[in-house]
Amino acid sequence: EREARLRSILDTVPEALITIDEFGVVESFSKSSETLFGYRADEVIGKNVSMLMPNPYRDEHDGYMERYRRTGERRIIGIGRIVTGQRKDGGTFPMELAVGEVNTPNLRLFTGFVRDLTTNQRLEQELRQSQ
Ligand code: HEM
Repeated sequence: EREARLRSILDTVPEALITIDEFGVVESFSKSSETLFGYRADEVIGKNVSMLMPNPYRDEHDGYMERYRRTGERRIIGIGRIVTGQRKDGGTFPMELAVGEVNTPNLRLFTGFVRDLTTNQRLEQELRQSQ
């Protein structure tokens, strides 16, 4: 019941929210993530988050996370980055990624907020061409 409440609140957030465990396995996938990536939550939950990105990220993401577990050095967490996402149909798109970390004695996970930058970049391009 509490979880259903929390889920319906998170479904109102305009950005796509994805949570993963410390090894990159997807634990939750919000409604806007389904719309953005074209997967239903049940197709992604339990799988590696790397399925949402193209190579070379896809092959290297486990390594990025391993490096972070080993060194504690943050390269995206709390900083953000513009990266490339990949939808179920194979299409790629620019996205702004904000990663956060939840680290309590009985809960360790990462949160990812994703904003689709496709329209921004298309607008910029059109602006540049019209000048
Ligand atoms: C690290 C790409 C999604 C969590 C990284 C790095 C890259 C990357 C390039 C390494 C940065 C560096 O070493 O300079 C991507 C791409 C994504 C994606 C292309 C597209 C879907 C996510 C999501 C989460 C996440 C959704 C969390 C829910 C992490 C974590 C690290 C990391 C925890 C290591 C910590 C850090 O470097 O600060 N990712 N990522 N990533 N990513 Fe992702």
